[in-house]
Amino acid sequence: MQQRHLFLCGFRGSGKTSVARLLGETYELPVVDLDEVVQTDAGRTIREIFDEGGEQVFRDFETVALGTIAQGPTAVIALGGGAILREKNREIIRSGGHVVWLDAPADVIAVRIQGDAASRQQRPPLTALPAEVEIETTLDQRRPLYEAVADHRVATDGLSVRQVAQKIQTLWSPTDTDADPLPESFAG
Ligand code: S3P
Repeated sequence: MQQRHLFLCGFRGSGKTSVARLLGETYELPVVDLDEVVQTDAGRTIREIFDEGGEQVFRDFETVALGTIAQGPTAVIALGGGAILREKNREIIRSGGHVVWLDAPADVIAVRIQGDAASRQQRPPLTALPAEVEIETTLDQRRPLYEAVADHRVATDGLSVRQVAQKIQTLWSPTDTDADPLPESFAG
């Protein structure tokens, strides 16, 4: 049977995990956080995986975990911010269900991430660039990939987690069988 998951993609600090939790309650679907599955599989934190093996080792865990999750029961799945980097991952995501991109401008993301000490501790740097430059540069590189994989873009700037979840509810429900986006899907 084809799986009909709801995938949430977007940069670090875009609210994927919080929104997924709320939508899971609303839809009465399990919520799966890809980063948590990676950490369980690896028996280490994401920072430890990056520190000990580097980003590519993390990406290998991520691809395996994503494949396993996609084969599992229908769920709301919060992806890691870089899960869209590999073409193989994008294929798994595209064929596994409906995809919503939680978008926010770089400066908003920077404020969210830097204002959260736990987040700074848990999220290893992706480059040697200063944090704000890294966010801007990486987001620029990834935008086309988020756009390529997503059925819908939701602009999250100025919205609460609940408001973002409510927007998504107007775009997708678990009974949807057709992944075609609504005409206004990229209007934000
Ligand atoms: C990453 C984002 C993180 C996590 C890892 C790499 C990225 O997920 O997968 O630190 O490349 O942007 P969140 O987006 O949930 O922070």
